[in-house]
Amino acid sequence: MLAIKNKAASKKPETKEFYISEINRLKKELNAVLLAHFYQEPDIQDIADHIGDSLQLAQAAEKTNADVIVFAGVHFMAETAKILNPDKLVLLPDMNAGCSLAEGCPADLLKKFKEKYPGHILISYINCSAEVKAISDIICTSSNAEKIIRQIPESQKIIFAPDKNLGRFIAKTTGRDMVLWHGSCIVHETFSEKKIIELKLEHPGAKLIAHPECEENILNNADFIGSTSALLNYVAENAAKEFIVATEPGILHQMQKKSPDKVFIQAPPEANCSCNECPYMKLNTLEKLYMCMRDKTPEIILDRRIQEDALIPIKRMLEMSKK
Ligand code: 13P
Ligand code: SF4
Repeated sequence: MLAIKNKAASKKPETKEFYISEINRLKKELNAVLLAHFYQEPDIQDIADHIGDSLQLAQAAEKTNADVIVFAGVHFMAETAKILNPDKLVLLPDMNAGCSLAEGCPADLLKKFKEKYPGHILISYINCSAEVKAISDIICTSSNAEKIIRQIPESQKIIFAPDKNLGRFIAKTTGRDMVLWHGSCIVHETFSEKKIIELKLEHPGAKLIAHPECEENILNNADFIGSTSALLNYVAENAAKEFIVATEPGILHQMQKKSPDKVFIQAPPEANCSCNECPYMKLNTLEKLYMCMRDKTPEIILDRRIQEDALIPIKRMLEMSKK
């Protein structure tokens, strides 16, 4: 009989404990950092070195000293980490973890769209491909979009891509008249206003909180609108005991951890489905995370020129976020 060489090998390969122990072992062996978005499954969030929204994860990627970045999120997030770290190995557990916003905004079409608006700068939401970033002037996320737009001189005309809902919301809060690319998030556009109003009547003390990727009719009913990290802070600080949460339900794990005495109700989608869960984010599993670290694949590979061009507007965003 073969001698058992290490503790992990003695565990049944398909158990959650096996994957967690192997991921932790591989983190040390590879000198890897594990970054996870709030929309990942709870087990992945719990073993991450950094958990955050798109901006926090880009900032963590910018600062890391690790040799390998393992990204438990979607493709554009891992790509951003690679743009910031061209010489590091950046792994994404499932290369199909895309994003409807990124997919709905091909760089060649955006380039043609941009040509129709001479004199405009292009501000792109981070939920876009590296090619789109490469033709953009500034990148933003949902947590810094307003701050960034407010730093642009009033006389400067702006195209905002690809999320029309975030763009419309920021145009309203800043009073800026922006040209919008008509993209949307398949998750945040599923919420039902009628069902949310019914829920509010059933829970009169509950606050409705919403991500700005939601449609305008949902945002009009919200008590608070913010990025995932802003929503998380709001529920921890607000005196209310119940919250109806109009964003991807992965965030509820951190909300519940931060505020165990409060009640979080998922905002219901229009249809009887679980379409409020991001199908891309949920492609990542503990097993795929383990396998990508074990095999050092799939990795993000970028054209050098695209990487260099895309770095400029990302760096601008990181600088403007500090102001
Ligand atoms: P934030 O992480 O900026 O809140 O955005 C949410 C989202 O949809 C990420 O894809
Ligand atoms: Fe893209 Fe929406 Fe999924 Fe975020 S939740 S990754 S915006 S599809």
